[in-house]
Amino acid sequence: MKKQGLILMLCLMCALFATKGMAQNTIVLREDNIDDIIKAMTVEEKVGLLVGSQEAMMPGAAGNTRPIERLGIPMTILCDGPAGLNIEPTREGTDQTFYCTGFPTGTLTACSWDIALMEYMTSAMGNEVLEYGADVILAPGINLHRNPLCGRNFEYFSEDPLLSGKMAAAFVSGIQSNGVGTSIKHYAANSQEINRRENDARISDRALRELYLKNFEIAVKEGKPWTVMSSYNKVNGDYTQQHHGMLTTVLRDEWGFDGIVMTDWGVKEGTVKAAKAGNDLMEPGRPVEMERLLAAINKGEISMEEIDRNVRNILKYIVKTPNFKHYKHSDKPDLKAHATVARKAAEESIVLLKNGNNTLPMKGNEKVALYGITSVDFFGIGTGSGEVNTAHVANMQEAMTTAGFTLDKDLAEYYRSCYATQTATEKMNGSAIDKRHRAEPTVSIKAIERQAQANDMAVFVLGRTAGEGADRVVKDDFELTAIERELLQNISMCYHKAGKKVVIIINAVGVVETASWKNMVDAILLPWTPGQEGAYAVADILTGKVNPSGKLAETFPINYMDIPSSRNFPYTWDMTEGRKGERKNVDFTDYEEDIWVGYRYFQTNNVEVSFPFGYGLSYTTFSYSKPSVKAGKEGFTATITVTNTGKVAGREVVELYVAAPAGGLEKPARELKAFAKTKMLAPGQSETVTMKVSAYEMASFNEEHSAWETAAGTYQVMFGASVADILATASFNFKKAQTWPVHDVLRPVKEAE
Ligand code: GLC
Repeated sequence: MKKQGLILMLCLMCALFATKGMAQNTIVLREDNIDDIIKAMTVEEKVGLLVGSQEAMMPGAAGNTRPIERLGIPMTILCDGPAGLNIEPTREGTDQTFYCTGFPTGTLTACSWDIALMEYMTSAMGNEVLEYGADVILAPGINLHRNPLCGRNFEYFSEDPLLSGKMAAAFVSGIQSNGVGTSIKHYAANSQEINRRENDARISDRALRELYLKNFEIAVKEGKPWTVMSSYNKVNGDYTQQHHGMLTTVLRDEWGFDGIVMTDWGVKEGTVKAAKAGNDLMEPGRPVEMERLLAAINKGEISMEEIDRNVRNILKYIVKTPNFKHYKHSDKPDLKAHATVARKAAEESIVLLKNGNNTLPMKGNEKVALYGITSVDFFGIGTGSGEVNTAHVANMQEAMTTAGFTLDKDLAEYYRSCYATQTATEKMNGSAIDKRHRAEPTVSIKAIERQAQANDMAVFVLGRTAGEGADRVVKDDFELTAIERELLQNISMCYHKAGKKVVIIINAVGVVETASWKNMVDAILLPWTPGQEGAYAVADILTGKVNPSGKLAETFPINYMDIPSSRNFPYTWDMTEGRKGERKNVDFTDYEEDIWVGYRYFQTNNVEVSFPFGYGLSYTTFSYSKPSVKAGKEGFTATITVTNTGKVAGREVVELYVAAPAGGLEKPARELKAFAKTKMLAPGQSETVTMKVSAYEMASFNEEHSAWETAAGTYQVMFGASVADILATASFNFKKAQTWPVHDVLRPVKEAE
């Protein structure tokens, strides 16, 4: 008996231990047990969580985080953006399609100057992230428009860090309102595509703080993105993904970021240095990176505390995701409704640059000669990871016909056949179009003369595309091609001789030269790359169904070489010039222009431009009241009343610029410190807008003191319809200087030592 009892007890104990052991293994991730999970994880599991994988991925996704089934840690899925979710539209084994909506790109939506509109658009975009089963959209791209030739500018917002940061924060809020995440990218100073993975951006502390980091600071503090994507490039000698000062001291300790940092999509040598610097997640992730981390742990080169810190950040991110919450995604977002959102977002952002003698709006039933190969192959978005697989991209022929115009049939057919020939040739050669635009077919002057007699007006669509991995160039890209120029001159001559008008549509990924030809035409409309429905938005503005209210988020210079950064930008394609490692603007780029980017330079130095920052016309007019500014040690509050003094309803963007008192640091003549867009105002209707600017937001960065400083003195407050068109002013005295010291962690390592 005794023996049996003993055996029974032993069995019970084994069962107990087994259960306990099972209990140990059955701990599963919850929002409130992350530290227990970390204790239960093996070192291999921890390291595996720090390195992404591309296994079993949703078709078209960019990457993921690794699952750990035994601990209830799911895979999470990362997909590209930023003009919409970028996934494969078809899948093996099902007839179901997975098209997404191609929304207007960042460069256009920034021209709306409308926070609410951005949130409206991205809440629809975020719904597609959720319903297609992704957890994060790798967006918004927010690098500053340092130079108009950067190939990815179309994904980004502006030359101004405040406008860029506010738009980024709104983008993040809209997306994340769906319970999915964003990734503000590429942190930081990914201002060119040439040699983007290795280029060393050499930037002063002040330019970093006031420009290249400032929009990220605003986006982090006001948008609270789940993730940040570090850039490929270096800043002052250190890869950003390995830069402790940027990723931990500034991003986390100073700005309070509490999400995860992931690398951009490439494997560099310094995996361990990146993990120690605060780069939590290596994407797309390769086994060699796990080996490096495991070896470093064994050698004591990275502590388990550092590993656990990054693991904790990733687990805190995972418990927020739809995949962790087992959200049952439908794979059927309402694309029809989202197409309407995309069209509205484009309508509210498109910029009217010229409208001589009220050429626009047209009646909508005119006979129109529609010129330009881009009228058929309309650029909804640029190229690269920022593309979106949409079911359809509207072109100008269909949009203008739908709007009620009668297109010159022969001319429309001519462009369709040219397009068919070009695409057939590309297919045969297996080549895509020239990186920057389609070859513009010629039209004889005799034909143009005939068309000028037969039609009521001419509309010419000028197209430019570009994207990831390649920057634009000056010749035949920033500037018109010879054929484009000849076509435009002949159209202008023939139609004006016939007493008819000429309208130009600039469907481009970035700034183009306009000064040499804008006086040859009667109206210029700038939709940039307006998404899949953008052509319809253009047509709505041509007919007056929509009154344009967009304003430029970047300067259109007269000449490319007027731009300060043009002396330090790789607008040549030859990357072999010079010895590797010493190639100017390829291996390193000196940001010699410092803070003098865009209007900060042009306005301060009174350099004439073709179209200034903040400029945009309406079909109506507005007046500004006398402003009131109430100031104190916290900053100031400004109010101003805008009245519609014209004949049609419209919306106005009020731009608030500040000129700091002279003395001390050299400062721009004026800097954008706030903005507000009115609601739709009927003729005669007014709206009072209020804008607040804190003392910190007024500050300039003093490198000597490594501190933000708002000097005492008299501040000028300017209310403008553009940076060059100030309609009201006020001033106030800021009694006591204030400073905000920050860590001196951004200089080149040698300098800081
Ligand atoms: C690319 C891009 C980045 C994108 C990532 C994933 O290299 O730089 O914007 O999100 O890889 O595709």
